[in-house]
Amino acid sequence: SAPATDAKAAPRTATNAKAERGSTMRMYDVIEKKRDGGELTDAEIDYFVSGYVAGDIPDYQASALAMAIFYKGMTAHETAHLTMAMAESGDMMDLSAIPGIKVDKHSTGGVGDKTTLVVAPIVASLGVKVAKMSGRGLGHTGGTLDKLEAIPGLSIEISEPDFFKQVSEIGVAVAGQTGNLVPADKKLYALRDVTATVDSVPLIASSIMSKKIASGSDCILLDVKCGSGAFMKDVDSAIELADAMVSIGEHVGRTTAALITGMDRPLGKNVGNSLEVIEAVATLKGEGPEDLTDVCVELAANMLNLAGKGSVEDCRKLARQQIANGEGLAKLAQMVKAQGGTDEVIFDTTKFEVAPFRRDIVAETSGYITSMNAELVGISSVALGAGREKKGDPIDPAAGIILERKTGDYVEKGDVIATLLTGDESRLDEGERIFREALVFGESAPELEPLFFARVSKDGVERFA
Ligand code: URA
Repeated sequence: SAPATDAKAAPRTATNAKAERGSTMRMYDVIEKKRDGGELTDAEIDYFVSGYVAGDIPDYQASALAMAIFYKGMTAHETAHLTMAMAESGDMMDLSAIPGIKVDKHSTGGVGDKTTLVVAPIVASLGVKVAKMSGRGLGHTGGTLDKLEAIPGLSIEISEPDFFKQVSEIGVAVAGQTGNLVPADKKLYALRDVTATVDSVPLIASSIMSKKIASGSDCILLDVKCGSGAFMKDVDSAIELADAMVSIGEHVGRTTAALITGMDRPLGKNVGNSLEVIEAVATLKGEGPEDLTDVCVELAANMLNLAGKGSVEDCRKLARQQIANGEGLAKLAQMVKAQGGTDEVIFDTTKFEVAPFRRDIVAETSGYITSMNAELVGISSVALGAGREKKGDPIDPAAGIILERKTGDYVEKGDVIATLLTGDESRLDEGERIFREALVFGESAPELEPLFFARVSKDGVERFA
């Protein structure tokens, strides 16, 4: 092994020189402490976050710390402190000028997850404010902003005063980030993405919660996806992540709960941006697929419950009522209009532009679909143009997949399983190749994974499956 003196010598960066002059703290020691399984102090976490954001701590030291955290984990206190240090690295939204309770929702990402487009208007139509900042799709999962931008004219870039005005007046806005929110996460997430350190509960929890806390809502509902199409492939790790996030939220005074929902197969029937808006509208009309409708009702009910609108059971009834009476749909149309979009496409979704090229995926044998890998369905939709392979790639709003059959369905040879849509005919072969890879057939009906696994709140974990 290396001589002890050499191994202990910190690299002579400007950072270390400065730290040594100002204090005795050195990034080298912070990395070493975590590498050896120690608990970092608040001051050490602050030193890392502020030094990294300021550019004083280089990427190689930050990645070494991220890897040490990946292996050694963090205590609940360390995770909560890291979250707040990250949240406070940039602007903190103060929504107190908007009257009433503000509730936010976050999904850890899935395929066909258009729930925000359904849930935000339902909740807002009952007088609970939703001031939501969403993200774009990357990799196999879609992003709410890309879905919204499939609506002609709609802008997700709203100035802060307009965002406040819209939420105050109509109760809901879904926009891209305004201001300089959580610069520490932007930098750290990009680093984790290329250093194989994304999959760490304290790092994911602090990344997500720092953004939710900086966004300013009073209540936060987390939808932690679990299954082949999600970050968290099994229910225990999904519960662990949910629990970490709920603890952080409650620790800093935000009413927080999480639902663990299934992402073993895509949610609903449509994957792709305008296709998902169309399905969200159908769901708000009471004509959506059952799985999507059930997840949306449950999410809306839990958001309403956090905001003090009654028991989850009562709030479920309220959510279903806003679908039946059309008020949820009316609220979505109002939001679309406020953000410059044409609400005609909401009232008549046949007005959406249709992709010029389509291909039916036909069953080559008869049998049950025993599995439809959600991640591969997502990757197939990206290959068709519905998502981006790298940041900044253009998106084809009409591209995507309509699933005619899903896991558990019996198909006869020749039946259409799905239709692929794209604006670029040359993408169809690759889209089909990947889509077929997602499918597994068998002779008997599979047991379906549940849609709801658990609910995590400050009162503990309630398992449903
Ligand atoms: N989503 C985030 O915002 N951060 C993570 O670390 C993982 C998923």
